[in-house]
Order: sequence, then C-alpha cells, then structure tokens
Amino acid sequence: MLRVENLDVAYGHLQILRQVNMNINNGEIVAILGANGAGKTTLLKSVMGLLPPKAGKVFYRGEDVTGRAPFELSRLGIAFVPEERNIFQAMTVEDNLLLGAYFVKDKAKIRSNLKEVYEMFPRLEERRKQLAGTMSGGERQMLAIGRGLMSKPHLIILDEPSMGLSPTNVLIVFQTIKTLTSQEVTIVIVEQNVDATLNVASRAYVMEHGAVVMEGSSQELSQNDYVKKMYLGQS
Ligand SMILES: Nc1ncnc2c1ncn2[C@@H]1O[C@H](COP(=O)(O)OP(=O)(O)OP(=O)(O)O)[C@@H](O)[C@H]1O
Ligand SMILES: [Mg+2]
Repeated sequence: MLRVENLDVAYGHLQILRQVNMNINNGEIVAILGANGAGKTTLLKSVMGLLPPKAGKVFYRGEDVTGRAPFELSRLGIAFVPEERNIFQAMTVEDNLLLGAYFVKDKAKIRSNLKEVYEMFPRLEERRKQLAGTMSGGERQMLAIGRGLMSKPHLIILDEPSMGLSPTNVLIVFQTIKTLTSQEVTIVIVEQNVDATLNVASRAYVMEHGAVVMEGSSQELSQNDYVKKMYLGQS
C-alpha cells in the first residue's frame, strides 16, 4: 500500500530524516512511535507531499508518488489528518465533513459516506449544525477523523489523534481506530500514547533522531526491554 525508501528530509541545511524505510501492507494498522522531535510529523508531511524529500522515494500502491502535491495524493485515496487538525472553525460540522468529500463527484455516494461517518460518530450528527470552532477538543478530533473518512480513503494517516484529549476522549479515539479496520482502510498512526497504540496496531516502527531504530509486531515490541523502559515507562 505504502512504501518509503531511503527517505532523507532536511529543513534547509538541517537534516532531519535519515534513510527512513517503511513498508505498509494493505489493511494493516501500523504505528510510528518516537519521542518529541524524532521526526514523525516530518516523515508524514514528506509522504503527503508537504515537504519535498532530499533523497529517497515514496510509493503508493506500487506507483512512485514522490513529491506529488497533497491534493493529488488525496485524489488517489490518501487522507491525512494532521496534528493541527485544520478544522474550519467558522463552518458547521456538516460543512466541514462535506469538504472531506471534495473529490467525490457522486452526490448519492457523498450522502452514504456522510451517513456512515454519522453512524460512527453519533455526536457529530447531533452537532451537525454547530460551528466547528465551538466543538470541544475531543469532538474536533472526531470531526477531523470523520472528514478524513468522507473521501472513503484507501489509506488514512493520523498524526497524534489522541493529543490534547481527556482520557475518555482518548478511549473514544482508539475505539474508533479499531472499528476502522472493518472499513477496509489501511491506517498509519503516529502516537506518543504507546501502550494504547500497540493495542490497536498490528505492527510498529520506532523512530529516534530521524531514523527508524526498531520495527516489529506490536506484541514483540510491547515485550521488548528497550521499548518497555523507554516508551512504556516500565523497568
Ligand atoms: N519547519 C521547520 N524548520 C526547522 N526545523 C523543523 C521544522 N519543523 C520541524 N523541525 C525540527 O525537526 C525535528 C523533527 O520534528 P517533527 O515535528 O518531525 O518531530 P515529531 O517526531 O513529530 O515530534 P512531536 O512528537 O513533538 O510531534 C525537530 O527537531 C524539529 O524541531
Ligand atoms: Mg509531530
């Protein structure tokens, strides 16, 4: 589904990513873990065409998409839910959702996608006429994920979906991610909430200082001594 090959990314002269390799298969939930500043967001932005790589390649469903513009990648079926969530505050919840279906031309399809999103997040349906800017943090995160799903993506990329949320909302977000697996969508999730993430993901990569330092099944990683000590706070 998604393959990243020897990716190098720099901000000016400052090199951030070094030779990053990843391979994400159809239907998987794959986590990218790492401390603040490890380069996780930089990697996602570079995959999404928001930051051109200095070297290396990105393949999506076998096609070289390195450096393609973000809108082209959305049209190809990739949805990106960034850390900043990018909700249009002065628009209603429903209008924000409809924007996510920008590339869907069939009106009946848009309606059925909207219905599915509302089934997944009844709270959004209750609040469909409310201005997005007045929604709570957790509700805004649901909205951002819901908007990503409105295009029926093949691949959804989530950057720290649980950030800034209350424990209850964090639970809701992880439950949502779990239910997404029945929707035939491949998921890449960047998280600092390592324990909860390893519970929903089948595999994970661990990044440190712009490089992948470890990869494995969630089970392997959650039993790994280094991961336990550094990321799960266990000794
Ligand atoms: N626009 C920028 N210009 C210069 N340096 C940047 C820029 N954006 C990020 N960086 C630097 O790149 C490094 C990686 O940042 P990045 O945002 O990818 O980390 P991250 O793993 O997503 O961290 P976090 O968990 O805090 O979100 C950091 O040292 C950061 O300061
Ligand atoms: Mg980040």
